[in-house]
Amino acid sequence: MISHSVPPARRARLGGGARAALIVGALSAASIVAAMALQNTATAASTLGASAAERGGRYYGTAVPANKLSDGAYTTILNREFNQVTPENEMKIDATEPNQNQFTYGPADQIVSYARSRGMRVKGHTLAWHSQQPGWMQQMSGSALRSAMLNHVRQVATHFRGQVFAWDVVNEAFEENGSRRNSNLQQTGNDWIEAAFREARTADPNAKLCYNDYNIDNWNYAKTQAVFNMVRDFKNRGVPIDCVGLQSHFTGGSNYPSSYRTTLQQFASLNVDVQITELDIRNAPVDAYRNVTNDCLAVSRCTGITVWGVRDSDSWRSSENPLLFTGSGAKKPAYDAVLAALNNGVIPTATAPTSSPPGGGGCTASISAGTVFGDRYNTNVAVSGSNNWTVVIALPSPQRLQSNWNATVTADGSGLVLTARPNGNGNNFGFTTYFNGNTGGRPTIRSCTAG
Ligand code: G3I
Repeated sequence: MISHSVPPARRARLGGGARAALIVGALSAASIVAAMALQNTATAASTLGASAAERGGRYYGTAVPANKLSDGAYTTILNREFNQVTPENEMKIDATEPNQNQFTYGPADQIVSYARSRGMRVKGHTLAWHSQQPGWMQQMSGSALRSAMLNHVRQVATHFRGQVFAWDVVNEAFEENGSRRNSNLQQTGNDWIEAAFREARTADPNAKLCYNDYNIDNWNYAKTQAVFNMVRDFKNRGVPIDCVGLQSHFTGGSNYPSSYRTTLQQFASLNVDVQITELDIRNAPVDAYRNVTNDCLAVSRCTGITVWGVRDSDSWRSSENPLLFTGSGAKKPAYDAVLAALNNGVIPTATAPTSSPPGGGGCTASISAGTVFGDRYNTNVAVSGSNNWTVVIALPSPQRLQSNWNATVTADGSGLVLTARPNGNGNNFGFTTYFNGNTGGRPTIRSCTAG
């Protein structure tokens, strides 16, 4: 049984200072950034995506169906408010492989290109699922189905490689009582889920690989425990899994549970990111939307929230009016509550070390922001205390180095750690970084070592 250092009821009552202390601990535990100060000053970003991006490079996204991209009222809100997109149906198996080995990507490509050209990151949904299988797959079983599923994962993940930051590799594989769902995929062998994850990793080594499900929000629920145990087992055995998606459909009779933050924290404790992937709440109550936002902000590895549609009229459960905008595009009270909660969240701010940093020392490197372009931005670095230095810099994922000047700058295998050395052009250098959808994150100095 897992014990909690702070009971959920008490945690909900914690004030801003105590909350900040919890977040500091979580951030350092995750070793996200070596030199980081917490700024409690609330800013007032005016959109969901901009505010989320300021909070540690998080995103606020939405499900998008391709046929809405020609609706100007819809895209006005989409473009203004959101910095992440999940295709609602266009990447599902029946959409991408309607006939075996004939892949169709038109509507999915349309969403990807729309989003990426506007700096929104894209999550792929979904590679392996019991539902929305095309007829040919529904009729398959055994080793033929296993091979067809793996081929689908390989082909689709390869097609979108470099364009999606994460994949829902497997969706909804558990029953409410915690047993595996008895689907045709399950009948190919209990290892079908890990086989799908391994195939996805091979096809797209840079995408975060997620397990995604509904009704895994309540920590004290058999299905939540079953998914938790699977992820822990995968981590223990080296099965490649990077994230867990809580769909969080608080519609159709499901409610926001008081243990929600505990659930996010428990999954994060397994060294995976957590994401709220399909949020909608019956009648959009202000309190529940605010709580979900605050719970995500309180967990450093809760990297983003995606609502399952823009306006109530876009929802798969439109009769429950569960979203943040009315059918005519007006902001609802829940929208104001979410934006206020985001704006009240603590902003992790990267700072240059003021004394000899860990791992070396003898010099100091200071970062200053440079020009921002459409899909990339510049960073300037000034080194003092030595003319012969090594500066190590961390990039926020999934950003990548594009170019550099006045120093030799190399990226490691992950692409996220840069090492800079003098190249005869003095002690001021710079580099350009692709946002890759993460428009909020900025580099941080890890160390400056003289000699
Ligand atoms: O596009 C056809 C249209 O041509 C036809 O006239 C119409 C008649 O029924 O159907 C349209 O397709 C529908 C499609 O949505 C687009 O509207 C499908 O029948 C319908 O099944 C499909 O529903 C989607 C559902 O997944 C299917 O499982 C919803 O839009 C989508 O929001 C929903 O999303 C799921 C997530 O993928 C997984 N988690 C739960 C979530 C909600 O069910």
